[in-house]
Amino acid sequence: MYPLRRNRRLRVNDTVRSLVKETIVTPDDFLVPLFVVEGTGVKEEIASMPGYYRYSLDLLTKEVKELWSLGLKSVLLFVKVPDALKDNKGVEAANPNGLMQRAIKTVKEAVPQMLVMTDVALDPYSIYGHDGIVENGRIVNDATVNALCTMALSHAQAGADFIAPSDMMDGRILALRETLEDNSFEHVGIMAYSAKYASAFYGPFRDALDSAPVDQQDIPKDKKTYQMDYHNRLEALRETRMDIEEGADIVMVKPGLCYLDIVREVKNMSEVPVAVYQVSGEYAMLKAAAANGWLDHDAVMMEQIVSIKRAGADLIASYFAKEVVKLL
Ligand code: PBG
Repeated sequence: MYPLRRNRRLRVNDTVRSLVKETIVTPDDFLVPLFVVEGTGVKEEIASMPGYYRYSLDLLTKEVKELWSLGLKSVLLFVKVPDALKDNKGVEAANPNGLMQRAIKTVKEAVPQMLVMTDVALDPYSIYGHDGIVENGRIVNDATVNALCTMALSHAQAGADFIAPSDMMDGRILALRETLEDNSFEHVGIMAYSAKYASAFYGPFRDALDSAPVDQQDIPKDKKTYQMDYHNRLEALRETRMDIEEGADIVMVKPGLCYLDIVREVKNMSEVPVAVYQVSGEYAMLKAAAANGWLDHDAVMMEQIVSIKRAGADLIASYFAKEVVKLL
């Protein structure tokens, strides 16, 4: 007697394995998150994200050119806003000469073909560190959506190709789509953070932008009234379906690794591309383990990226993008 199937025949050497490989990662798969600060000549490492930096606009130019030369063709912009410019309503977020608006222009001047996506949420601009406007201890939905529309319009006017609302307010995709259409920005796309969970993995990102919710009486200390509860899966499908109906061009699941079941289900029901955000805490965990000599950095990084793609990601926003592409 012999085994009916010998699956090991397809694993016998590199050549065979590469022939039957089901998941291929390419530079086209990536969105590169970039953190921008005021100043000149600034390239500061983020303490909880070793090897990742905030750039002032002059050095952003250099970074973006390097990304393009590596075949990385899309960036996702975030700004660190000085405290003096923060308020409850995020007024600065729509300043036509604000840091985000200048960053968009800087990237387009450096590399005109680079696809520019911008984060749309109030948290970097909020004195409370919330994605929306706070009133009587609540993050108010509809007033926030109006503010996000003004913010997104200013990004489109500055030259953004896609806006990426990460706020999780209800109804914002429809309102943003209408705002763009009404102002002749029908060519500007929307990548919706559709299934964005209230996750403890965002910690290092909030260090990077100094945007953590404040610990203050009568102010919610977390984002659980708008970001999703990680016990839930059907809710992710509902959020995604509604965002697609409201006009999202791309939907996103966030974070990555702990949510790959959700990624697969969203991929199976979505007729628009699915993005996955491998978030700051996922990056920090691997950097810390590798620094201690506990994990093989490059091997684990590739295993994670391939797993995200295998789960169904069409696009991956990742702080590892540059390192991955250099290894391909
Ligand atoms: C802002 C925003 C966050 C992230 C992306 N956009 C933080 C948050 O919601 O608190 C997290 C990204 C990361 O952790 O890498 N709304």
